[in-house]
Amino acid sequence: MLVALFIVITLASAPLSALAQKASPVAPNRARAEAAVREAYEKFKNDTGGKNADYIPYLAKVPSKLFGIAIVTTDNQVLMLGDVKYSFSIQSISKVFSMAMAMDEFGAAKVFDKIGSEPTGRAFNSVFAVADLPTHTGNPFVNAGAISTVSLISAKSAAEKWNKILNYYSRCAGEKLSLIDEVYKSEAATNTGNKALAMLLAKYERIYADPFESVDVYTKQCSVGVNAIQLARMGATLANSGKNPATGEQTIKAENVPYILSTMMMAGLYDGSGKWAWHVGLPAKSGVGGGIVAIVPGKGAMAVFAPPLDEAGNSVKAQKVIEYFADKLDFNLFSPRSVGLKY
Ligand code: DON
Repeated sequence: MLVALFIVITLASAPLSALAQKASPVAPNRARAEAAVREAYEKFKNDTGGKNADYIPYLAKVPSKLFGIAIVTTDNQVLMLGDVKYSFSIQSISKVFSMAMAMDEFGAAKVFDKIGSEPTGRAFNSVFAVADLPTHTGNPFVNAGAISTVSLISAKSAAEKWNKILNYYSRCAGEKLSLIDEVYKSEAATNTGNKALAMLLAKYERIYADPFESVDVYTKQCSVGVNAIQLARMGATLANSGKNPATGEQTIKAENVPYILSTMMMAGLYDGSGKWAWHVGLPAKSGVGGGIVAIVPGKGAMAVFAPPLDEAGNSVKAQKVIEYFADKLDFNLFSPRSVGLKY
């Protein structure tokens, strides 16, 4: 029953009436957004498609029925429904924010040169992509490119690097995040494939610090816990040109945001990215923990958490909810309807 769930619109700093007087990028759509979230939740809550990731043993044990939807807008309105307080591992969605960190430190051109930004068309952990691609690293979102990105971030020690990463993610989320230790231990005990990728990158001179140390910090970043609201706020920070709408802090350099969003559009759902661009038309990033965050530039972000994944490693329900929502609200960036044109 809907009352047993909860759907609320909270306003961080201003009452509704006051907010309506501001030039809100989203206020005119608020009622439509709320209705579309409710409809999507009801329509997909009993969907049984997909299967939890199990190559990381912890993830196989996460209850498959968990389902949460959160939206944070660039004017810091929050809309949520379902299991939005459950802390799940951010997994590959972390790669977006480590890419942002590396670009903040070295500039986009250096990250483009050292990692690249080409789709691989292969699974996110593909060894073949590393061997075949001219850059070997592919892009910052496949495992090889992500481990390489972590290796690029400067620090005097692995511990310092990890703290720097966790602090950066926390600032993007607008609250302190922490490691889910059980996820980290589970993944660290089974990540032989990522270690092999790192060694292969070393052969091609495309990893810029100790390979195993880089894999370890990468494994920690994937094990950071977020709930759907925190993830939506991280997304809203990107939607708001890098400025966290809750704290007002410019956490990501604005000039780098277009590079991040374009990479999300091109590779955010791995070998499911072409289908996603075709049907949804929004930059997004998935993680094998069951989360997906999608960005509507200038307006806000939607995060959906539901553990069962398709074959490419993307949450089945999250894809359906975001597609439904983007369609109802005319958010597909490639559609004339996104700028108000009727056809
Ligand atoms: O390295 C891994 O395989 C995981 N820590 C992250 C993979 C992931 O989330 C891919 N996402 N869809």
